[in-house]
Amino acid sequence: MNLLVLGASGGCGIEVVSQAVTRGHNVTAVVRETTFFEAPEEVKVIRGSVLSEQLLEEVIDGKDAVISCLGLNRKNKLNPWSEIISPKNLTSEAVGLLINLMKQDKSLAVISAAGVAESFARTNPLLKFLIRRSSLGPAYSDLEKMEKALKGSSLNWYAIRPVTLTDFKIKEVKTADSYSLFSMISRPSVAKYLLDIIEGVEQPDTRTPIIKN
Ligand SMILES: NC(=O)c1ccc[n+]([C@@H]2O[C@H](COP(=O)([O-])OP(=O)(O)OC[C@H]3O[C@@H](n4cnc5c(N)ncnc54)[C@H](OP(=O)(O)O)[C@@H]3O)[C@@H](O)[C@H]2O)c1
Repeated sequence: MNLLVLGASGGCGIEVVSQAVTRGHNVTAVVRETTFFEAPEEVKVIRGSVLSEQLLEEVIDGKDAVISCLGLNRKNKLNPWSEIISPKNLTSEAVGLLINLMKQDKSLAVISAAGVAESFARTNPLLKFLIRRSSLGPAYSDLEKMEKALKGSSLNWYAIRPVTLTDFKIKEVKTADSYSLFSMISRPSVAKYLLDIIEGVEQPDTRTPIIKN
């Protein structure tokens, strides 16, 4: 499959790229000009902005599917109150451009988050507090906007909603009804699930599954 990966330099993105190569896909990764990114030699790396319609139009040509692992950066990734340094509409804007540029029969799988939109009601009190009060709020609003745009599109789309991310190894991925305090999923497992969706191996019964290990 000819696969385009956005957010390829992030924790989940790097995993998507390397697992996709292992599965035999032809991978094109879009990475910002200044970001350090080391990819397997089979990967075509395009440097530029994911918010450039012209760039996306060029790189989408000939692709069967797109995976987006984009997410808003904070100055300090470990501090939820740290200032957001990415455009606050990054995921909704990039996905909006993809929706306009991709042909209807193509597949788009993106990372959202458990706690977004109606899943907020099924989220543990700590995360609810952080979403209401910290820099997680604007990031979740952007993801909600992104999901809304996808719902109005006719693409074959999935916005997966992982619980808390870790860097453990790949483990079995389960879908969940709620986001409990200690539920976690590893980034390699998220990557595997995204690729399984794109390949049709996983067919969740909702387009916005909460996933955990
Ligand atoms: N952390 C959690 O527990 C958790 C739980 C559920 C869902 N999520 C969601 O999952 C997403 C992926 O997780 P992750 O750990 O892989 O995140 P990550 O390592 O922070 O990766 C974020 C990706 O977005 C890109 N990005 C950020 N700002 C950008 C910009 N202005 N222009 C272009 N690209 C930009 C980054 O590129 P650069 O490398 O160039 O900055 C990077 O590739 C998170 O962002 C979040 O929305 C997280």
